[in-house]
Amino acid sequence: MNVSLPENYVWPHKHLIGLEDLSADDIRFVMQTASGFASMSTRSVKKVPALRGKVVVNLFFESSTRTKSSFYLAASRLSADTLDFTSTGSSVSKGETVRDTAMNIEAMGVDIIVCRHMESGVPRMLSQAVDCSVVNAGDGQHEHPTQALLDIYTMGTELGRSDFDFSGLNVGIAGDIAHSRVARSLLIGLKKLGANVLLIGPPTIVPRTFEAMGCEVHHDFDAILERLDVANMLRVQFERITSQAFPSVREYSALYGLSPERLAIMKKNVLIMHPGPINRGLEVASEVADGPNSVILKQVTNGLAVRMAVLFLVHGAQYLDAN
Ligand code: CP
Repeated sequence: MNVSLPENYVWPHKHLIGLEDLSADDIRFVMQTASGFASMSTRSVKKVPALRGKVVVNLFFESSTRTKSSFYLAASRLSADTLDFTSTGSSVSKGETVRDTAMNIEAMGVDIIVCRHMESGVPRMLSQAVDCSVVNAGDGQHEHPTQALLDIYTMGTELGRSDFDFSGLNVGIAGDIAHSRVARSLLIGLKKLGANVLLIGPPTIVPRTFEAMGCEVHHDFDAILERLDVANMLRVQFERITSQAFPSVREYSALYGLSPERLAIMKKNVLIMHPGPINRGLEVASEVADGPNSVILKQVTNGLAVRMAVLFLVHGAQYLDAN
């Protein structure tokens, strides 16, 4: 890793709510810290005492496979005590508010709350209500910061961009951009690192308004296949699309799915990414998802090191501000 940071750089954030709050230096510092934890994962003893005696709570109000397990393992590897809270079967069903739930859990002596919620803004609200650190594990259509950080880590390490200066890199994000917290966090982070971001999909879910954020908007995937260094294929979020965004799943797949034929036209070393969970045969063909250009499972592996870095930094930060 070849990250260059100002000599007097200090991580300033008590919470991680979104990449909108991070500077390019902050993102690069997370990458550098994650790199240290990634090399530790190859040792026979994978635990470090960095958060020994601390308590990390997973406060998830929405389903998750990757993020929840990854935060749980990350906290365990840092030697923290962990508590998994799920809203099903809790007093939320009796009408308790999210704020009261979080404040009651914090009262048991919690140091970090990791929160996923279907409503945008809940982690930010909690960060203002509790004294401990809050990490956003995905809120509504707002942000999914650790997914973006692990995606950036994967791009930097796989493409040999170890300084995490992404100038000149063409990163395509295809799919349901309008409803995607993954896309929002990622494009914010990539723009801060200097990448050229190409958003791809039908006008109903990839509106031209994203051009105001400095992104290219493309409705014809085939026209830009040869330009891409990375193709990040987002899941079509049937649960968030309220109106008919495209005529049929078959048409979406024909126009925007990553097929072996499309992959054959792309750069030989193009990285194929997907945040998961995959709708196989819709956004990406199985042969492509499981093929040599795919780094989909490496994203998951890298997520552990990135989340260790985030937990370590937010808790140990010498906070300069209240973000
Ligand atoms: N990428 C992601 O957030 O996956 P989960 O919903 O399984 O956590």
